[in-house]
Amino acid sequence: MPGLLLFFFILALELGLLLYIFAVADGDFTLVSKKRVKREAIEDKVVWITGASRGIGEVLAKQLASLGAKLILSARNVAELERVRSELKGKHVPDGVKILPLDLASGEGSLKLAVEEAVSLFPGDGIDYMMHNAAYERPKSTALDVSEENLKTTFNVNVFGTISLTKLLTPYMLKQGGGHFVVMSSAAGKTPAPGQAIYSASKYALNGYFHSLRSELYQKGIKVTIVCPGPVETSNGTGTTTSENKKSPERRVSAERCAELTIIAASHNLKEAWISYQPVLPVMYLVQYMPSVGFWLMDKVGGKRVEAAEKKDNTYSWKLLFGKSKTN
Ligand SMILES: NC(=O)c1ccc[n+]([C@@H]2O[C@H](COP(=O)([O-])OP(=O)(O)OC[C@H]3O[C@@H](n4cnc5c(N)ncnc54)[C@H](OP(=O)(O)O)[C@@H]3O)[C@@H](O)[C@H]2O)c1
Repeated sequence: MPGLLLFFFILALELGLLLYIFAVADGDFTLVSKKRVKREAIEDKVVWITGASRGIGEVLAKQLASLGAKLILSARNVAELERVRSELKGKHVPDGVKILPLDLASGEGSLKLAVEEAVSLFPGDGIDYMMHNAAYERPKSTALDVSEENLKTTFNVNVFGTISLTKLLTPYMLKQGGGHFVVMSSAAGKTPAPGQAIYSASKYALNGYFHSLRSELYQKGIKVTIVCPGPVETSNGTGTTTSENKKSPERRVSAERCAELTIIAASHNLKEAWISYQPVLPVMYLVQYMPSVGFWLMDKVGGKRVEAAEKKDNTYSWKLLFGKSKTN
Protein backbone atom coordinates (compact mmCIF):
# COMPACT_ATOMS: atom_id res chain seq x y z
CA MET A 1 0.00 0.00 0.00
CA PRO A 2 2.71 2.57 0.87
CA GLY A 3 4.38 1.57 -2.42
CA LEU A 4 1.18 2.38 -4.33
CA LEU A 5 0.83 5.72 -2.54
CA LEU A 6 4.43 6.58 -3.39
CA PHE A 7 3.76 5.66 -7.03
CA PHE A 8 0.76 8.02 -7.24
CA PHE A 9 2.66 10.74 -5.42
CA ILE A 10 5.53 10.58 -7.93
CA LEU A 11 3.04 10.44 -10.81
CA ALA A 12 1.26 13.55 -9.52
CA LEU A 13 4.60 15.33 -9.10
CA GLU A 14 5.63 14.46 -12.66
CA LEU A 15 2.28 15.57 -14.04
CA GLY A 16 2.54 18.82 -12.08
CA LEU A 17 6.04 19.40 -13.42
CA LEU A 18 4.88 18.72 -16.98
CA LEU A 19 1.96 21.14 -16.57
CA TYR A 20 4.29 23.78 -15.15
CA ILE A 21 6.74 23.39 -18.06
CA PHE A 22 3.82 23.69 -20.50
CA ALA A 23 2.39 26.73 -18.72
CA VAL A 24 5.65 28.70 -18.90
CA ALA A 25 6.79 27.44 -22.33
CA ASP A 26 7.14 29.84 -25.25
CA GLY A 27 7.40 27.15 -27.91
CA ASP A 28 6.26 23.63 -28.70
CA PHE A 29 7.91 20.77 -26.81
CA THR A 30 10.26 19.71 -29.62
CA LEU A 31 11.44 23.27 -30.24
CA VAL A 32 12.11 24.20 -26.61
CA SER A 33 13.90 20.87 -26.05
CA LYS A 34 16.54 21.97 -28.61
CA LYS A 35 17.68 24.87 -26.39
CA ARG A 36 20.60 26.16 -28.52
CA VAL A 37 21.36 27.11 -32.11
CA LYS A 38 23.63 24.72 -34.00
CA ARG A 39 26.14 27.39 -34.98
CA GLU A 40 27.85 25.22 -37.59
CA ALA A 41 24.57 25.06 -39.54
CA ILE A 42 24.56 28.87 -39.87
CA GLU A 43 28.17 30.11 -39.87
CA ASP A 44 29.43 31.14 -43.35
CA LYS A 45 26.09 30.20 -44.89
CA VAL A 46 24.33 32.59 -47.27
CA VAL A 47 20.93 33.57 -45.88
CA TRP A 48 18.45 35.61 -47.92
CA ILE A 49 15.86 37.28 -45.69
CA THR A 50 12.74 39.01 -46.97
CA GLY A 51 11.07 41.62 -44.79
CA ALA A 52 14.46 42.53 -43.30
CA SER A 53 13.73 46.27 -43.05
CA ARG A 54 11.99 46.06 -39.67
CA GLY A 55 10.27 43.79 -37.13
CA ILE A 56 11.20 40.12 -36.84
CA GLY A 57 13.17 40.23 -40.12
CA GLU A 58 15.49 42.95 -38.80
CA VAL A 59 16.12 40.99 -35.59
CA LEU A 60 16.71 37.80 -37.58
CA ALA A 61 19.34 39.67 -39.62
CA LYS A 62 21.11 40.87 -36.47
CA GLN A 63 21.16 37.43 -34.83
CA LEU A 64 22.24 35.66 -38.02
CA ALA A 65 25.05 38.20 -38.51
CA SER A 66 26.26 37.48 -34.97
CA LEU A 67 26.35 33.80 -35.87
CA GLY A 68 28.60 34.53 -38.87
CA ALA A 69 26.09 34.17 -41.71
CA LYS A 70 26.44 36.04 -45.01
CA LEU A 71 23.26 38.00 -45.54
CA ILE A 72 21.09 39.25 -48.35
CA LEU A 73 18.54 41.71 -46.98
CA SER A 74 15.35 42.33 -48.94
CA ALA A 75 12.28 44.54 -48.60
CA ARG A 76 10.92 47.53 -50.51
CA ASN A 77 12.28 50.29 -48.29
CA VAL A 78 15.95 50.59 -49.25
CA ALA A 79 16.68 53.38 -46.72
CA GLU A 80 15.52 51.08 -43.90
CA LEU A 81 17.59 48.20 -45.28
CA GLU A 82 20.64 50.51 -45.30
CA ARG A 83 19.90 51.40 -41.68
CA VAL A 84 19.73 47.73 -40.72
CA ARG A 85 22.99 47.04 -42.57
CA SER A 86 24.74 49.95 -40.85
CA GLU A 87 23.63 48.57 -37.47
CA LEU A 88 25.16 45.20 -38.37
CA LYS A 89 28.66 46.65 -38.72
CA GLY A 90 30.86 45.34 -35.96
CA LYS A 91 28.82 42.14 -35.78
CA HIS A 92 29.98 41.09 -39.21
CA VAL A 93 32.30 42.15 -42.04
CA PRO A 94 30.34 44.78 -44.01
CA ASP A 95 30.97 42.90 -47.25
CA GLY A 96 29.05 39.97 -45.85
CA VAL A 97 25.79 41.91 -45.97
CA LYS A 98 24.15 42.75 -49.31
CA ILE A 99 21.00 44.67 -49.99
CA LEU A 100 18.56 43.51 -52.63
CA PRO A 101 15.41 45.65 -53.01
CA LEU A 102 12.37 43.51 -53.61
CA ASP A 103 8.63 43.94 -53.98
CA LEU A 104 6.95 40.57 -53.61
CA ALA A 105 3.85 41.90 -55.35
CA SER A 106 5.77 43.00 -58.46
CA GLY A 107 5.10 39.90 -60.56
CA GLU A 108 7.14 36.94 -61.77
CA GLY A 109 9.25 38.93 -64.29
CA SER A 110 10.84 41.17 -61.71
CA LEU A 111 11.09 38.37 -59.12
CA LYS A 112 13.08 36.37 -61.69
CA LEU A 113 15.55 39.26 -62.02
CA ALA A 114 15.80 39.47 -58.22
CA VAL A 115 16.60 35.74 -57.96
CA GLU A 116 19.25 36.01 -60.69
CA GLU A 117 20.84 38.90 -58.82
CA ALA A 118 20.61 37.14 -55.44
CA VAL A 119 22.43 34.02 -56.62
CA SER A 120 25.27 36.17 -58.01
CA LEU A 121 25.82 38.33 -54.90
CA PHE A 122 28.21 35.89 -53.21
CA PRO A 123 30.15 34.41 -56.15
CA GLY A 124 30.99 30.76 -55.57
CA ASP A 125 28.34 30.36 -52.85
CA GLY A 126 24.73 29.49 -53.50
CA ILE A 127 21.80 30.55 -51.36
CA ASP A 128 21.79 28.18 -48.38
CA TYR A 129 18.72 29.57 -46.61
CA MET A 130 15.79 31.52 -47.99
CA MET A 131 13.93 33.07 -45.05
CA HIS A 132 10.47 33.98 -46.27
CA ASN A 133 9.62 36.47 -43.57
CA ALA A 134 7.94 39.39 -45.39
CA ALA A 135 4.19 39.76 -45.17
CA TYR A 136 1.58 42.33 -45.86
CA GLU A 137 0.40 44.09 -42.68
CA ARG A 138 -2.15 42.03 -40.79
CA PRO A 139 -5.42 43.82 -41.47
CA LYS A 140 -8.03 43.24 -38.79
CA SER A 141 -11.23 42.44 -40.65
CA THR A 142 -13.84 39.72 -40.37
CA ALA A 143 -14.28 37.01 -42.96
CA LEU A 144 -17.07 39.02 -44.60
CA ASP A 145 -16.00 42.64 -44.39
CA VAL A 146 -12.60 42.32 -46.01
CA SER A 147 -12.02 44.75 -48.88
CA GLU A 148 -11.04 43.45 -52.29
CA GLU A 149 -7.82 45.45 -52.07
CA ASN A 150 -6.84 43.81 -48.76
CA LEU A 151 -7.68 40.38 -50.12
CA LYS A 152 -5.61 40.87 -53.27
CA THR A 153 -2.63 42.52 -51.60
CA THR A 154 -2.46 39.95 -48.81
CA PHE A 155 -2.44 37.07 -51.29
CA ASN A 156 -0.11 38.84 -53.77
CA VAL A 157 2.53 39.41 -51.10
CA ASN A 158 2.11 36.54 -48.63
CA VAL A 159 1.22 33.77 -51.06
CA PHE A 160 1.76 34.43 -54.79
CA GLY A 161 4.99 36.46 -54.41
CA THR A 162 6.43 34.02 -51.88
CA ILE A 163 5.57 30.96 -53.94
CA SER A 164 6.86 32.53 -57.18
CA LEU A 165 10.15 33.40 -55.52
CA THR A 166 10.42 29.81 -54.29
CA LYS A 167 9.67 28.34 -57.72
CA LEU A 168 12.36 30.55 -59.26
CA LEU A 169 15.02 29.91 -56.60
CA THR A 170 14.58 26.16 -56.09
CA PRO A 171 16.25 25.12 -59.40
CA TYR A 172 19.41 26.97 -58.32
CA MET A 173 19.28 25.24 -54.94
CA LEU A 174 18.84 21.85 -56.57
CA LYS A 175 21.85 22.54 -58.81
CA GLN A 176 24.01 23.37 -55.78
CA GLY A 177 22.88 20.18 -54.03
CA GLY A 178 20.22 21.57 -51.72
CA GLY A 179 18.84 24.52 -49.83
CA HIS A 180 16.61 25.35 -46.90
CA PHE A 181 13.41 27.41 -46.89
CA VAL A 182 12.43 28.94 -43.57
CA VAL A 183 8.86 30.17 -43.77
CA MET A 184 7.52 32.67 -41.26
CA SER A 185 3.95 31.48 -41.10
CA SER A 186 1.76 32.08 -38.06
CA ALA A 187 -0.38 30.43 -35.39
CA ALA A 188 -3.11 31.85 -37.65
CA GLY A 189 -1.92 29.32 -40.23
CA LYS A 190 -2.67 26.46 -37.80
CA THR A 191 -5.86 27.59 -36.07
CA PRO A 192 -8.81 29.78 -37.03
CA ALA A 193 -8.07 33.48 -36.48
CA PRO A 194 -11.41 35.24 -36.00
CA GLY A 195 -10.99 38.86 -37.03
CA GLN A 196 -8.06 38.02 -39.30
CA ALA A 197 -9.60 35.53 -41.72
CA ILE A 198 -7.72 36.62 -44.85
CA TYR A 199 -4.35 36.76 -43.12
CA SER A 200 -5.11 33.30 -41.69
CA ALA A 201 -6.08 31.99 -45.14
CA SER A 202 -2.79 33.25 -46.59
CA LYS A 203 -0.77 31.49 -43.88
CA TYR A 204 -2.70 28.21 -44.23
CA ALA A 205 -1.90 28.45 -47.97
CA LEU A 206 1.81 28.82 -47.24
CA ASN A 207 1.77 25.85 -44.86
CA GLY A 208 0.12 23.68 -47.51
CA TYR A 209 2.51 24.73 -50.25
CA PHE A 210 5.72 24.39 -48.28
CA HIS A 211 4.93 21.08 -46.58
CA SER A 212 4.10 19.73 -50.06
CA LEU A 213 7.26 21.20 -51.61
CA ARG A 214 9.36 19.53 -48.93
CA SER A 215 7.74 16.16 -49.38
CA GLU A 216 8.35 16.37 -53.16
CA LEU A 217 12.00 17.46 -52.95
CA TYR A 218 13.39 16.41 -49.56
CA GLN A 219 15.31 13.48 -51.04
CA LYS A 220 16.93 15.96 -53.45
CA GLY A 221 18.18 18.18 -50.64
CA ILE A 222 15.39 20.73 -50.21
CA LYS A 223 14.57 21.37 -46.55
CA VAL A 224 11.67 23.38 -45.17
CA THR A 225 11.11 24.76 -41.69
CA ILE A 226 7.70 26.33 -41.14
CA VAL A 227 7.59 28.66 -38.14
CA CYS A 228 4.21 29.47 -36.60
CA PRO A 229 4.43 32.28 -34.06
CA GLY A 230 1.49 33.52 -32.03
CA PRO A 231 1.57 37.19 -30.98
CA VAL A 232 5.05 38.72 -31.21
CA GLU A 233 6.17 42.11 -30.01
CA THR A 234 7.78 43.69 -33.04
CA SER A 235 10.45 46.38 -32.94
CA ASN A 236 7.95 49.24 -32.99
CA GLY A 237 6.67 47.88 -29.65
CA THR A 238 3.13 47.34 -30.84
CA GLY A 239 3.17 43.84 -32.20
CA THR A 240 0.66 44.96 -34.76
CA THR A 241 1.26 47.16 -37.75
CA THR A 242 3.73 50.01 -37.79
CA SER A 243 0.88 52.45 -38.35
CA GLU A 244 -0.76 51.60 -35.01
CA ASN A 245 1.62 53.24 -32.60
CA LYS A 246 0.03 51.90 -29.44
CA LYS A 247 1.25 49.38 -26.87
CA SER A 248 -0.51 46.07 -27.34
CA PRO A 249 -2.68 44.79 -24.44
CA GLU A 250 -1.63 41.21 -25.25
CA ARG A 251 1.25 39.23 -23.81
CA ARG A 252 3.63 38.78 -26.71
CA VAL A 253 6.89 36.90 -27.24
CA SER A 254 9.69 39.40 -27.92
CA ALA A 255 10.93 39.71 -31.49
CA GLU A 256 14.39 38.70 -30.18
CA ARG A 257 13.10 35.44 -28.70
CA CYS A 258 10.99 34.74 -31.79
CA ALA A 259 14.06 35.20 -34.02
CA GLU A 260 16.21 33.08 -31.69
CA LEU A 261 13.70 30.21 -31.68
CA THR A 262 13.33 30.51 -35.46
CA ILE A 263 17.07 30.13 -35.95
CA ILE A 264 17.15 27.23 -33.46
CA ALA A 265 14.35 25.52 -35.42
CA ALA A 266 16.11 26.07 -38.76
CA SER A 267 19.54 24.99 -37.54
CA HIS A 268 18.05 21.74 -36.16
CA ASN A 269 16.09 21.27 -39.39
CA LEU A 270 12.72 21.08 -37.60
CA LYS A 271 9.88 20.70 -40.06
CA GLU A 272 7.50 22.89 -38.11
CA ALA A 273 7.90 25.02 -34.98
CA TRP A 274 5.34 26.84 -32.83
CA ILE A 275 6.27 29.95 -30.86
CA SER A 276 3.91 31.51 -28.33
CA TYR A 277 2.89 31.93 -24.74
CA GLN A 278 -0.44 30.71 -23.38
CA PRO A 279 -3.27 30.59 -24.30
CA VAL A 280 -2.30 30.28 -27.99
CA LEU A 281 -0.03 27.27 -27.55
CA PRO A 282 -2.61 24.90 -25.92
CA VAL A 283 -5.17 25.97 -28.52
CA MET A 284 -2.70 24.99 -31.26
CA TYR A 285 -2.20 21.59 -29.60
CA LEU A 286 -5.96 21.13 -29.30
CA VAL A 287 -6.68 22.04 -32.93
CA GLN A 288 -3.85 19.78 -34.13
CA TYR A 289 -4.48 16.72 -31.95
CA MET A 290 -8.16 17.04 -30.90
CA PRO A 291 -9.68 19.11 -33.73
CA SER A 292 -13.31 18.69 -32.63
CA VAL A 293 -12.51 20.17 -29.23
CA GLY A 294 -10.20 22.83 -30.68
CA PHE A 295 -12.74 24.03 -33.27
CA TRP A 296 -15.54 23.93 -30.66
CA LEU A 297 -13.44 26.22 -28.48
CA MET A 298 -12.69 28.61 -31.34
CA ASP A 299 -16.39 28.74 -32.27
CA LYS A 300 -17.12 29.71 -28.67
CA VAL A 301 -14.64 32.61 -28.58
CA GLY A 302 -14.70 33.79 -32.23
CA GLY A 303 -17.48 36.41 -32.00
CA LYS A 304 -16.08 37.83 -28.78
CA ARG A 305 -12.60 38.00 -30.26
CA VAL A 306 -13.88 40.11 -33.15
CA GLU A 307 -15.55 42.45 -30.63
CA ALA A 308 -12.34 42.61 -28.54
CA ALA A 309 -10.33 43.49 -31.66
CA GLU A 310 -12.77 46.29 -32.50
CA LYS A 311 -12.34 47.72 -28.99
CA LYS A 312 -8.54 47.20 -29.22
CA ASP A 313 -8.80 44.89 -26.18
CA ASN A 314 -6.81 41.74 -25.51
CA THR A 315 -7.75 39.29 -28.29
CA TYR A 316 -5.91 36.40 -26.60
CA SER A 317 -7.51 36.67 -23.15
CA TRP A 318 -8.88 33.61 -21.31
CA LYS A 319 -11.89 35.85 -20.54
CA LEU A 320 -13.09 35.37 -24.12
CA LEU A 321 -14.14 31.88 -23.01
CA PHE A 322 -16.80 33.29 -20.67
CA GLY A 323 -19.94 35.27 -21.35
CA LYS A 324 -21.74 35.69 -24.65
CA SER A 325 -20.91 37.63 -27.79
CA LYS A 326 -23.29 40.55 -28.38
CA THR A 327 -23.67 39.49 -31.98
CA ASN A 328 -24.51 35.82 -31.19
N1 LIG B 1 4.36 40.25 -35.30
C1 LIG B 1 3.56 39.23 -35.02
O1 LIG B 1 2.80 39.25 -34.04
C2 LIG B 1 3.56 38.01 -35.91
C3 LIG B 1 2.90 36.85 -35.47
C4 LIG B 1 2.90 35.72 -36.27
C5 LIG B 1 3.55 35.73 -37.49
N2 LIG B 1 4.17 36.87 -37.91
C6 LIG B 1 4.81 36.84 -39.22
O2 LIG B 1 6.18 37.19 -39.07
C7 LIG B 1 6.63 37.90 -40.22
C8 LIG B 1 7.24 39.23 -39.80
O3 LIG B 1 6.29 39.94 -39.04
P1 LIG B 1 6.59 41.41 -38.49
O4 LIG B 1 5.61 41.66 -37.42
O5 LIG B 1 8.03 41.57 -38.22
O6 LIG B 1 6.16 42.28 -39.77
P2 LIG B 1 6.33 43.82 -40.06
O7 LIG B 1 7.00 44.53 -38.94
O8 LIG B 1 5.02 44.32 -40.55
O9 LIG B 1 7.36 43.79 -41.30
C9 LIG B 1 6.97 43.26 -42.53
C10 LIG B 1 8.17 43.21 -43.44
O10 LIG B 1 7.73 42.75 -44.72
C11 LIG B 1 8.17 43.67 -45.72
N3 LIG B 1 7.19 43.74 -46.79
C12 LIG B 1 5.90 44.11 -46.73
N4 LIG B 1 5.34 44.10 -47.95
C13 LIG B 1 6.31 43.70 -48.81
C14 LIG B 1 6.37 43.51 -50.22
N5 LIG B 1 5.33 43.76 -51.02
N6 LIG B 1 7.52 43.06 -50.77
C15 LIG B 1 8.61 42.84 -50.00
N7 LIG B 1 8.63 43.02 -48.68
C16 LIG B 1 7.50 43.46 -48.09
C17 LIG B 1 8.28 45.02 -44.98
O11 LIG B 1 9.24 45.87 -45.60
P3 LIG B 1 8.90 47.05 -46.63
O12 LIG B 1 7.67 47.73 -46.14
O13 LIG B 1 10.14 47.88 -46.59
O14 LIG B 1 8.72 46.37 -47.95
C18 LIG B 1 8.81 44.58 -43.62
O15 LIG B 1 10.22 44.45 -43.65
C19 LIG B 1 5.40 38.04 -41.12
O16 LIG B 1 5.39 37.00 -42.06
C20 LIG B 1 4.24 37.88 -40.19
O17 LIG B 1 3.08 37.40 -40.83
C21 LIG B 1 4.21 38.00 -37.14
